[in-house]
Amino acid sequence: MHSYKIAVIEGDGIGREVMAEGLRVLEAAGRRFQINFSWHHFDWNCQTYLKTGRMMPEDGLDQLRAFDAIYLGAVGYPGVPDHVSLWGLLIPIRRTFQQYVNLRPVRLLRGVDSPVKGFAPGEINLCIVRENNEGEYSEVGGRLYQNTDAELALQESIFTRRGCDRVIRYAFELARTRRRHVTSATKSNGIIHTMPFWDERFSATTKDFPDIKTDQYHIDILSAHFVRHPDWFDVVVASNLFGDILSDLAAAVVGSIGLAPSANLNPERQFPSMFEPVHGSAPDIAGKGIANPIAQIWSGAMMLQHFGEHSAAKAIEDALEAVLADPQLLTPDLGGKACTRNVGEAIARAVSSGS
Ligand SMILES: NC(=O)c1ccc[n+]([C@@H]2O[C@H](COP(=O)([O-])OP(=O)(O)OC[C@H]3O[C@@H](n4cnc5c(N)ncnc54)[C@H](O)[C@@H]3O)[C@@H](O)[C@H]2O)c1
Repeated sequence: MHSYKIAVIEGDGIGREVMAEGLRVLEAAGRRFQINFSWHHFDWNCQTYLKTGRMMPEDGLDQLRAFDAIYLGAVGYPGVPDHVSLWGLLIPIRRTFQQYVNLRPVRLLRGVDSPVKGFAPGEINLCIVRENNEGEYSEVGGRLYQNTDAELALQESIFTRRGCDRVIRYAFELARTRRRHVTSATKSNGIIHTMPFWDERFSATTKDFPDIKTDQYHIDILSAHFVRHPDWFDVVVASNLFGDILSDLAAAVVGSIGLAPSANLNPERQFPSMFEPVHGSAPDIAGKGIANPIAQIWSGAMMLQHFGEHSAAKAIEDALEAVLADPQLLTPDLGGKACTRNVGEAIARAVSSGS
């Protein structure tokens, strides 16, 4: 029996609803594959911020350090500015724990009607490797002369050699386990310091991986290719902002943001990694019980993969694809009428029975 100690942060809005299903399915996988989970729940969210002035306590990161992984729903809610909820919880976790790879798989699953026509299930199968610690998401900058005509805002991007090299290298190593093709997202025509530097680091890394096919596109045409030719791509490596935008776009191409999982990885395993859906707290549907729980459930499978529990991870992925094939079990984002809980229960049953 393997045992894992997991920090659970439901967060806000639909984060709380989809997390219940994520835990249900992981428990089912645990029973079948002799895995014991010890869940520790943290009520760190926008409500906590409104009560205490902090998204998490001052020693919050120290509290998380001892866990094997962090399983997160989503944070952010009207009433608390989005930059406060993000910088008060998610970004400090990603940075302090050196989760510099944000891995976001994108697959066209059986049973899902993609808005992009002409592709069979499995024909769209790519992985976005998003730089997760630096880039455009930086605290360097400021505001001057506020409330005057001379008012200005300055925001700096940070690209370091170490930061670029380690995430680009991860993408190449990942490609070796897949179809041996890495695409770099750039914008070195318009952004004349950081992006040519990113291109140089990409080019330098290619030399260590002669067996991997490479290409690069400016982010504007790459976005168009994601819609017209999503089957061209295997591993796509991108800066923090570009990777973030590309992953919502790719999720839409394969049917719904409600299907998109992610892993914030510390590949050296010095710190816990964090697993969460790509989507946010969706205040527009929160409380209605109709959120698609699959992104959360699939993120749980990525956590098992990270632990080396490959059979259990595969059982969850197979189960969610089997359930998607039943039109009665599609949530409204996929054109159906099913509720969050019904989908979670059906996936848990499929995991238990191995069907
Ligand atoms: N990692 C995170 O915690 C994270 C990520 C993105 C946004 N946010 C936060 O979430 C809040 C809302 O942000 P947003 O509206 O830009 O993005 P969002 O992902 O929450 O929602 C975008 C749209 O997608 C739909 N949607 C999202 N997840 C869904 C699901 N599982 N099933 C069905 N439909 C789903 C929503 O209903 C909405 O129409 C903001 O406070 C934002 O800062 C948090």
